Amino acid sequence: MKRFNINKISWDELDELRRPTPETTDFDRVVQAAVSRRGFLTGLVAFGSGAAVMGAGAVRASGELKQGAARFAFTPIAAQTDFTVHVPEGYEWKVLASWGDPLFSDAPAFDPANGTTPEGQARAFGENTDGMELFDIDGHEVIAVNHEYANLDINLPQNDEGAPLSVTDVRKIQDAQGVAVFEVKEGENGWEVVIDSPFNRRITHNTPMRIAGPAAGHALLRTEADPSGTESLGTFNNCGAGRTPWGTYLTCEENFNGYFGSTDEAFERPEGFARYGIELESGYDYEKFDPRFDISKNPNEPHRAGYVVEIDPSDPASTPVKRTALGRFKHENAEVTLAADGRVVVYLGDDERGEFLYRYVSDDVYVEGGDTSGLLDAGQLYVAKFHEDGTGEWLALTPEATGMDRAMIHIHTRQAGSAVGATTMDRPEWVAVNPTRVEAYCALTNNKNRAVKANAGGDETPAAGPNPRAENNYGQIVRWRPENEDHAADRFDWDLYVMAGNPEVHADAYAGSANVTAGNMFNSPDGMKFDSRGMLWIQTDGDDSNEGEFAGMGNNQMLVGDPASGEIARFMTGPKGSEVTGATFSTDRRTLFVGIQHPENFPDPEALPRSSIVAIRRADGAEIG
Ligand code: FEO
Ligand code: CA
Ligand code: CA
Repeated sequence: MKRFNINKISWDELDELRRPTPETTDFDRVVQAAVSRRGFLTGLVAFGSGAAVMGAGAVRASGELKQGAARFAFTPIAAQTDFTVHVPEGYEWKVLASWGDPLFSDAPAFDPANGTTPEGQARAFGENTDGMELFDIDGHEVIAVNHEYANLDINLPQNDEGAPLSVTDVRKIQDAQGVAVFEVKEGENGWEVVIDSPFNRRITHNTPMRIAGPAAGHALLRTEADPSGTESLGTFNNCGAGRTPWGTYLTCEENFNGYFGSTDEAFERPEGFARYGIELESGYDYEKFDPRFDISKNPNEPHRAGYVVEIDPSDPASTPVKRTALGRFKHENAEVTLAADGRVVVYLGDDERGEFLYRYVSDDVYVEGGDTSGLLDAGQLYVAKFHEDGTGEWLALTPEATGMDRAMIHIHTRQAGSAVGATTMDRPEWVAVNPTRVEAYCALTNNKNRAVKANAGGDETPAAGPNPRAENNYGQIVRWRPENEDHAADRFDWDLYVMAGNPEVHADAYAGSANVTAGNMFNSPDGMKFDSRGMLWIQTDGDDSNEGEFAGMGNNQMLVGDPASGEIARFMTGPKGSEVTGATFSTDRRTLFVGIQHPENFPDPEALPRSSIVAIRRADGAEIG
């Protein structure tokens, strides 16, 4: 079995390496569709929503960012290539928690040379920190955070094979993933985890879950261990996150496909497996030691993953619920907002090249203090269609429109999106809703196959609309404003908030939009979150080689965008090798917690590298978000 060094790349990239190669499409269209940078920006203005971009053009003309001209409360920092974290002058950072830190006093301390023990891992902070949210629960500040995947070389340091060799190894890495919920407190030494807090909890690949919504109980979700099709174990590849107005945490299952494999090489994969990238070979060899992950023995088990899972952080005894109404695909995050009439709206990206952007609208309205148990079960799922004229629409995934029954729409959601002709996107990562204006943003991280390959369902991926560049290595952020200022409306106007690029290397569309300069350039926008002032925090998961196409961009980073002026400024840089992912504010908004995923030499350059959450504050104690 071919192995990849996953310590050097994100799971997104690993998944791409392992995926089959769809057919090449007509390359001529790529050239035809290539848009000149100038022409593209003119087009944006013509759509009537280019004011921000025009404002940013003035910034570009000045040759550098106008520091402080926008609403930035910091002096932007330079790109970095070293192995630590940098923040602006007047700010400070400190590690809050790292992989292997005990959450309970009965877990052994982390060993810098050998990592965690198999017994201790399920009682400790997990690996590869990702999406997170902080909840104020009766005055207690509780963080829920995802642990997306494992790094076998690091998490099994005593094992030279880079693969699990026993059921004990498998359990250990299963316990390093999932979700952690824990209380934090600010004291004399800054923020610390409250060991043994009654809120502390680890959710792993073996935690009991309930399956709810339109797919629950369907024949495709039934297994020998669960003939009801409503009770599963664990949540997988937890990437982005979300929160509901009723105080629950949403964790999103992304590249779940990589956990399943077959011990029978001749096994013929069931319908739908190819579209979701479920192969005979897995990423971690679970299937050799844990038959639940062997698709030749349990072919329905993968149908029980790929969902958004709701967790109540206030009750560690509660059972997480897989909400199938939000669709089954490689979920990035789940951004929740309310429609004008109080219905619950959830925006959802499917992070794979050429896949789609979705929206869910509940049937019932949210009432504070009311019954919220069915709001993420009964509703309508939609998929986005973007038109060239700057308008777009949400296409309802109904049995009439798709030719599929309701349950199948929520099991084979990608096929339903293809059936209605959804727009293939450049890998939708996080969606963020602006709290100060009725609009939403989605990071389209990159797509080296744009206009080169069809997606896994055979849908063409022309360079067009919000995905205007072929072989797009830099990414862009699309935003939309719903009709009538109502997130439940079925039509919207869209434009591009930013096209990432490198103006030092390119003079064409690959230079990026006018709000990209030599002083703030970046590639592969991924995590995004608005703060209470309507400033957009943008995190990257891209190429940090600092060479060639990416020269001058340095390490992955976090920037702040001001949607009002169009300006974007670099706030933070991560250690080399890492992805910056996950952001949440303390209740008093004086601290920003940020995730550092898969660093190479961090936080201790002499010991095993450890994914960590860092707490960032202003030295003067003022609010930062
Ligand atoms: Fe786990 Fe698409 O990022
Ligand atoms: Ca991501
Ligand atoms: Ca990514």
